[in-house]
This record gives sequence, C-alpha cells and structure tokens, in this order.
Amino acid sequence: MELKGELRKKVLNIRNNMKKTEAVDKSNLIINKLIGLDHYRKSKTVFVYMSFKNEVMTSKLIERMFSEKKSVVIPYTDTKNTVIIPSEVKNIEEDLVLSRYGYYEPVNEKIKVVEPEKFDLMIIPGVVFDKQLNRVGFGKGYYDRILCRKRKDAKAVAIAYEFQVLDEVPAEKHDIKMDMIITEKNIYE
Ligand SMILES: Nc1ncnc2c1ncn2[C@@H]1O[C@H](COP(=O)(O)OP(=O)(O)O)[C@@H](O)[C@H]1O
Ligand SMILES: [Mg+2]
Repeated sequence: MELKGELRKKVLNIRNNMKKTEAVDKSNLIINKLIGLDHYRKSKTVFVYMSFKNEVMTSKLIERMFSEKKSVVIPYTDTKNTVIIPSEVKNIEEDLVLSRYGYYEPVNEKIKVVEPEKFDLMIIPGVVFDKQLNRVGFGKGYYDRILCRKRKDAKAVAIAYEFQVLDEVPAEKHDIKMDMIITEKNIYE
C-alpha cells in the first residue's frame, strides 16, 4: 500500500478509538488556542469544517463565531465533481442537514456560495500532518482544491490532535501546506 494510505489508516484507527471525553477535552484546549490568535480576532469571514466522528470539534467555535458576527462559511461536498462548495451559514439548526456520509452540510437549496477569495481564515481538518506543515486528508484532494484558491494574506490553520502530527509525511506537488497547525500540546508554524 502507498505510504499516505498506510499513515491514514494508522492515525484514523487511533482517532476512531479515542474516548469521547478525551476528544472533548482536547478539542476545548485546541479551540481556546485558536480563538486567542490575533488573526482569528481580525478575521471577518471564516471557512470552517463541521466536525464528525472524532475530528477536533468545531460546534462551539461556530456558535461563538455567530455571536461575534463573523461570516461563517461551511463546506458542501459536491461528490460528483469532487469539489467543496463553500456556503455561508447563519443558523446551525435551520441551514444544515445530515449528509449520507454522517456529517452536517449546508442544505442544498439554501446554498449561498462565498468565493474562497473572501476567506480571511480557513480552519482545516485532516488525518495526518507533519512538522513541516504538510497535510494528508482522506485521499480525495477536496481541501487541496479549495486551499489553492485562498488569498495569500488569508491563513490556513489546521486543528488536530498531537498524535496526528508526525515528523514527516509524503507531500506531492498538488498538496497545499498549512500556515499553522494547532494541537492540544503545540502550535506549529
Ligand atoms: N488542485 C487540484 N486539482 C486537481 N486535482 C487535484 C488537486 N489537488 C489534488 N488533486 C487530486 O486529488 C487526488 C487526491 O489527492 P491527495 O493529496 O492524495 O488527497 P488528500 O489531500 O485528501 O489526502 C490526487 O489524485 C490529486 O491529483
Ligand atoms: Mg493532499
């Protein structure tokens, strides 16, 4: 099996077997670091994923961003064209629906596209990372395709558990590096 695939399997196995309480505690630490960043405070339009399974949890962060009047942009996954359609969301209950893959995404009929050039901050999930800020996702390249459209002064911040950050992972030409990775133990930048 190719190396990226092996690493995905290994790290996902650890993440899927985390206790819920551990995921909640570590997610809180990570989100608290994120909201302390100057760049977060200054960001008006934030692209953020909806967490599922044991991904670093973003629901509290999203509620906070609503109360701070930030514009919250959430991915709609167009699986036919393997692209993310970024959509502005105003209300978690009304504007999102559970997809057949198990994550929440914008209701198709309510999609309000926000062009990636508008993003000030992108909060990115991933499966494996390394200390050089490389990212390995689920293997379909969805995030590489949208990350390459962000403005130069916007920041891509990955949030992950420390066990997801290895010394080195394979990176290909199309792989887009993060500007920062926040874990419960470290900030890599
Ligand atoms: N910007 C892009 N344009 C077109 N294809 C892309 C782009 N980024 C990635 N891909 C394709 O997506 C596929 C999966 O990419 P990969 O980096 O392995 O996945 P992931 O980033 O989800 O781990 C690769 O075949 C790659 O060529
Ligand atoms: Mg990639």
